[in-house]
Amino acid sequence: MTQDKEPVIGTVYLVCILTLIVGTITHICEESEFEVCMSKNNLTRIPKNLLPTTKSLDISQNYISELQISDISFLSGLKVLKVSHNRIQRLDLSVFKFNQDLEHLDLSHNQLQKMSCYPVVSLKHLDLSFNDFDVLPICMEFGNLTQLNFLGLSAARFQQIDLLPVAHLHLNYILLVLGDYYKENVREKLQILNTKTLHFVFHPKSLFSVQVNISVNTLGCLQLTNIKLNDENCQVFVKFLLGLIRGPMLLNLTLNHIEAPWKCLVEIFQFLWPRPVECLNIYNLTLDEVVDDIQVTYPETTLKALKIEHITKRVFIFSQTVLYKVFSEMNIMMLTISETPFIHMLCPRTSSTFKFLNFTQNVFTDSVFDTCSTLVRLETLILQKNSLKDLFKVSLMTENMLSLETLDVSWNSLESHRYEENCTWAKSIVVLNLSSNSLTDSVFRCLPPKVKVLDLHNNRITSIPKNVTHLEALQELNIAFNSLTDLPGCGTFSSLSALIIDHNSVSHPSADFFQSCQKIRSMKAGNNPFQCTCELREFIKNIDQVSSKVAWDWPDSFKCDYPESSKGILLKDFHVSPLSCSPTLLILTIVTTMLVLAATVTFLCCYFDLPWYLRMMCQWTQTRHRARNIHLEELQGTLQFHAFISYSEPDSAWVKNELLPNLEKENLQICLHERNFVPGKSILENIINCIEKSYKSIFVLSPNFIQSEWCHYELYFAHHQLFHKGSNNLILILLEPIPQNNIPSKYHRLRALMAQRTYLEWPTEKSKHALFWANIRAAFNIKLTLATDNNDVKTLKSQEIQLKRLRL
Ligand SMILES: *[C@@H]1O[C@H](CO)[C@@H](O)[C@H](O)[C@H]1NC(C)=O
Repeated sequence: MTQDKEPVIGTVYLVCILTLIVGTITHICEESEFEVCMSKNNLTRIPKNLLPTTKSLDISQNYISELQISDISFLSGLKVLKVSHNRIQRLDLSVFKFNQDLEHLDLSHNQLQKMSCYPVVSLKHLDLSFNDFDVLPICMEFGNLTQLNFLGLSAARFQQIDLLPVAHLHLNYILLVLGDYYKENVREKLQILNTKTLHFVFHPKSLFSVQVNISVNTLGCLQLTNIKLNDENCQVFVKFLLGLIRGPMLLNLTLNHIEAPWKCLVEIFQFLWPRPVECLNIYNLTLDEVVDDIQVTYPETTLKALKIEHITKRVFIFSQTVLYKVFSEMNIMMLTISETPFIHMLCPRTSSTFKFLNFTQNVFTDSVFDTCSTLVRLETLILQKNSLKDLFKVSLMTENMLSLETLDVSWNSLESHRYEENCTWAKSIVVLNLSSNSLTDSVFRCLPPKVKVLDLHNNRITSIPKNVTHLEALQELNIAFNSLTDLPGCGTFSSLSALIIDHNSVSHPSADFFQSCQKIRSMKAGNNPFQCTCELREFIKNIDQVSSKVAWDWPDSFKCDYPESSKGILLKDFHVSPLSCSPTLLILTIVTTMLVLAATVTFLCCYFDLPWYLRMMCQWTQTRHRARNIHLEELQGTLQFHAFISYSEPDSAWVKNELLPNLEKENLQICLHERNFVPGKSILENIINCIEKSYKSIFVLSPNFIQSEWCHYELYFAHHQLFHKGSNNLILILLEPIPQNNIPSKYHRLRALMAQRTYLEWPTEKSKHALFWANIRAAFNIKLTLATDNNDVKTLKSQEIQLKRLRL
């Protein structure tokens, strides 16, 4: 791009647009403490309840027919008053006597016929246009409005025009709305004005007939609205223009709503060409009558830009080429012809001056500028909203436009299927707008090789083919609103720095995008149907890292679409455990967990004798369970002891020092054979007696016990089958381990009991003793009333011992 070309077009464009905007900016009412908006409120009067501090009051579009001094005098701070579109017929400007800050007064679109004058010197903007004044309402007092910027006036007749009172004011904008004009009232007096913009609005229905002699100093912009011309009055209009265009300042001429025969339009062009005007804008042009073939030759001109927006043709049967030739041969820089029914534009016959052509919203077809080699200076060509169909032909069109940099063919019906032929784009194209067409993947085989900015949004692209021409210069790619399923890699676009790819079908964006596209500086990729699965994690991580600098629609436009459970969740908030994403990791974790568990169990077994604890706990629960199921009533009365303890002599030390103190601590009555034996009875009888009167029998087992005592019981057991009711009453304490083969085989009952492991082992470690005693206590966890026996058990006192419910 050559640096000196661009600013020229830009400045002309800016000048042409800016001068139009001045004076037409309308402030939108925003309700606040100082601003009251009461537009369209069916008001017939100004409300009385306004605050005196109100600065701006909008009461336009109501039914107010009168303004009185009492209505507004209390609004002493009022600066802006909008009363347009009401029904006011008379007004005395002295009603604003007390509004000394009033700057903006809009009384347009009322029914004002008469006005009494008063100098409201603070006024900057006074609009009296579109009223029913017969003559221009200009009073001498207006001469004192030195701050005045904008003055809007209207009159039915233009007969007594006298702008003298305001001639010395330096205005920005004068709006003159004129009704029918009668020729016979012409005054030849020269009217002089000082304004930057002068806007005439003529009567929409009458033919143009104004012959006025106004000379405007400093006029930069002239606007004329409602110009109805025919073959007769065309000259009148041209003369009217001549009067106004005299000064060297007039750069901008705008014609709104102009109705003219073709011949007259050409005449106007020919008239304007040698004038100092730089921008000519024509909005809403209606072409009348048959178009004749007029030979046009354009003289040297200062005109830089011609813009025609919206042409209606009243006549359809004429030679189109005649019409197009008038435009194609123009020796200006910028031409805009938009919203017309034009179907074609001719290729200039000789090397053309056009740098900028805008043909938005016409009906041009692929044949426009076909093999045209005279548009050699053309830099920007806009063919938006036309009827172009074939991308190949468009490329062919540009082949000889050697300076073309920007081409906009958006909103056409372009398709790209003839990619087998080589597209012949102008090499100079750097900006190509192909948006809103019907292009498919093959468009990537038909692109200008040096394109930097490519707009492909709103097409039918599903993927970017791998083997496309390398677009090494491409910096900005807009491919939004297509059907792409993945982000493009930057292999083919090595300079890509901005990517817009939102509203596509990208569900699994590749995570290595950011690696592949190192130069990316800006990106928009939201509103895609992201599948929130394991694969997406890497992408989320990457985009989250670069988000603040690059992805400017992150995180709000990135939402999960799948699975159903995550639908609508922001990607930023989507988390999935690393475990569920990696089978190897999962297996590894399970194996590790199991190994740790096994190690822990082994450790516990070795160092803390876990099996012993488990066994004890198991027995404890069983015992408690059994104790709950015992039918107490059957036992009550017959029992005198809680427990009988049997042990061999060598173990008596343990019994006396450990067992007995622990049991008696719990208030248990114990029968010891040496303590409670009835003299005269055999040992066996005594034992049996003791067993029968005790709730439980505790046997302290040890190798000694087997040797010395067991035989007694075996004998008894054989006879009475004491344990056949179940071994519930039996508590076996294994004081020392008894090897299985030490038990003589004749003691089969003991062997059976030992095999069932229903004994409690006395632990050697002190730390385990608590659990051991808890287990013993659990066996007596019962409320028992003991009977007394004076005959047999002398040492037992006659008393009732209530056992407390024991707790661990
Ligand atoms: C392409 O044209 C569309 C409208 O037709 C416009 O919105 C968009 O901004 C243009 N793209 C570029 C890169 O100028």
